[in-house]
Amino acid sequence: MYLTKMEEKMLAGEEGYAVQKNMEILTALGNIFGAEKMIPVSSVQVAGVSYYNLGDAGLEYLETLAAKAACARVKTTLNPAGMDLENWRDLGIEEEFAKKQERVIQAFVKMGVIPSCTCTPYLVGNEPARGDHIAWSESSAVTYANSILGAMTNREGGPSALAAAITGRTPAYGMHIEENRKPKVRVKVDTKLRDVPDFGALGYAVGKKIGPKIPLFEGIEGSPLEQLKSLCASIATYGGTALFHISDGTRDDAPTEIITITRTDIEAALRALNDEAAEVDFVALGCPHCTLEEIKTIADLLEGRKVTREFWICTARQTMQEAEKTGDAQRIRKAGAKFACDTCMAVAPLKGRFNVLATDSAKACYYGRGTNNFKTRIGSVEECVNAAVTGNWS
Ligand code: F3S
Repeated sequence: MYLTKMEEKMLAGEEGYAVQKNMEILTALGNIFGAEKMIPVSSVQVAGVSYYNLGDAGLEYLETLAAKAACARVKTTLNPAGMDLENWRDLGIEEEFAKKQERVIQAFVKMGVIPSCTCTPYLVGNEPARGDHIAWSESSAVTYANSILGAMTNREGGPSALAAAITGRTPAYGMHIEENRKPKVRVKVDTKLRDVPDFGALGYAVGKKIGPKIPLFEGIEGSPLEQLKSLCASIATYGGTALFHISDGTRDDAPTEIITITRTDIEAALRALNDEAAEVDFVALGCPHCTLEEIKTIADLLEGRKVTREFWICTARQTMQEAEKTGDAQRIRKAGAKFACDTCMAVAPLKGRFNVLATDSAKACYYGRGTNNFKTRIGSVEECVNAAVTGNWS
């Protein structure tokens, strides 16, 4: 792989241990994937923040890098951590876990990383422009950045994203090459999608049918942000693609392979994500993290009611603070529901605490089942709020 003079110096250790080690990671990656050169990145988003997933080895790695003066050169934000950084006790997090999680965050902060702890960085100030080369690692955010914002990023691992932050570079392969971003399958959506679970079901159905091939969707033009972020999360989880296109009717590179998604496919996907369980003991919304609009909807649905089940609204702290200004956050707390800022139902240590998760997110079903052994119920936000109040899924 071609390296500039400056990159060669970085690799030779002239800018210190941390830069050298991280250039080694990136050049190894570049060589594996056949990159011809490095490219500068303007934004980084690092996953692998929860101590639940990192463990002591990950914590030690981060603290070593921080001690060796590693420092982010570009705007770098974090994916959700394993707990609400301020309100962890209220979410039932153990003190021992909290101490380790705080050390993880301190190590990142020491490296100049912004501890925004959200999978929707594009809602809270880390919003790249069309054509920007970036290095993000949360899969739903990667798909959102590529597909909706038009930025260019591979699906980085936590260490490779952090390496991009520390060096300001990433190897030029995959989604950074225009040629690799062309659609491969036309996906005609031949049914009206009603809500967020329907978009999650679309991602599930398409992901299962075409895997990581890049789809060109027809029939979902003009969909709201909330529905698109659900699709991004779901298609990345169930298919593995980091990019989709939405047809505006003007493309001259529409693929010849065509699949059609009907109401039958959406219903089948929703059935596959729903387990048999009449009672619910945990409700979690905000996968990916809730927007202000979603928080308002939840607050309206909770008006004058009290929840009887643990109910988490997962969102960025900054978004929750905006909801405090409108009074929606107070209305939610009054009903007994809890904000889970900085974290989510998938990366918090929840195994063994609950049996049945109700959610509006197809991705949350995947992690609820896979990571935490929960049964899952997927439905509209109204159905989820009702379940939090009554404990029943109807
Ligand atoms: Fe975000 Fe957690 Fe879902 S990181 S996309 S809320 S699994």
